[in-house]
Amino acid sequence: MSLPLAPFKLERYFARYEFSARYLLCSSDCESLPVGGLLDLEPGAEEGLKRLWLGYTESPGAPSLRQEIAHLYTDIRPEQVLVHTGAEEAIYLFMHAVLQAGDHLIVHWPCYQSLTEVARSIGCDVTPWVARPENGWALDLDELRAGVRPNTKAIILNTPHNPTGFLMPAADFRALNELARERGLALFSDEVYRELEYDPADRLPAVCDLNPDAVSLGVLSKSYGLAGLRIGWIATQNAPVYTRMAALKDYTTICNSAPSEYLSELALRHRDRLTGRNLAIIRDNLSLLDKFFTSHSDRFEWIRPKAGPIAFPKLLGEDVEQFCHRLVTETGVLLLPGTLYDHPGNHFRLGYARRNMPEALERLEGFLQ
Ligand SMILES: Cc1ncc(COP(=O)(O)O)c(C=O)c1O
Repeated sequence: MSLPLAPFKLERYFARYEFSARYLLCSSDCESLPVGGLLDLEPGAEEGLKRLWLGYTESPGAPSLRQEIAHLYTDIRPEQVLVHTGAEEAIYLFMHAVLQAGDHLIVHWPCYQSLTEVARSIGCDVTPWVARPENGWALDLDELRAGVRPNTKAIILNTPHNPTGFLMPAADFRALNELARERGLALFSDEVYRELEYDPADRLPAVCDLNPDAVSLGVLSKSYGLAGLRIGWIATQNAPVYTRMAALKDYTTICNSAPSEYLSELALRHRDRLTGRNLAIIRDNLSLLDKFFTSHSDRFEWIRPKAGPIAFPKLLGEDVEQFCHRLVTETGVLLLPGTLYDHPGNHFRLGYARRNMPEALERLEGFLQ
């Protein structure tokens, strides 16, 4: 029996503030750029865009775009890439392709709400695989093993993680993949923050390269800062899952936006420049945050991430919802209370991949005085 989808708390919060608050200090996407900034990356790109035909495009995604996406992986062919409208559509279609009412799944938690909510709306039973601050937001594989039931169908992982910034150690990641294979479980790995590892040596393999049954999720929105293109994808060697998702896409978006596909392909050809720029912003901002949290250790608990544009610090001595509300009304600085993830720990999401973060942090500093 399917159930109504609950409102997406984080999206509703952003709908209220994203285009009115002056300083977004909780964004999960990196600094973006105008269309001209992308077109300037390559001679002839502007003319190519002008010539672009605006008819329907190929349903799985333009072959040349899929080719470019396949370069992100080691063992994936372009036919094993299915392009979607953002990561969000891919999450929705994966859940509907793989799950039925009565199935059980285990989801890395706290999490981006659709990773649990879509399954719940299908009538599935969701067990959270809890990331705890006392463990530096690490996940316990024994807890996962203990949580597997006869009707468990899937494990959902997100690393680098929204909202904590947790990057799973490589040994745990391999063990997780082995466990999923041994138990015949679908592993859906939300890798939308991949390539934002502060030390490139920490980068994990993509699950689609490591595990022939698993599905990797990617998107232009986060590491590349191109959310307005609304282009995401899944990559998998699992042909049945791929085919079911492709069949469902006929009922959601049919195919992708032609200009977005063109610009996405261009961006991916120059992805090192985009991620390099975004990582430089993150590094500069993190050094300011380190100082900030050291001088305010009486007000916050800070677990410094190893990857990604976001962290989930704890606020001490005041209710986090009231704090965020006062902050945005008095200073225009937007933070995101952890209650929007149904997390009870008085944490908030902090985003630091925007160029104006130093100004936002100054205002937060002033507010604390
Ligand atoms: C972990 C995670 N997955 C998926 C998404 C959805 O990405 P998009 O908005 O590009 O569809 C987000 C966006 O915040 C996210 O943080």
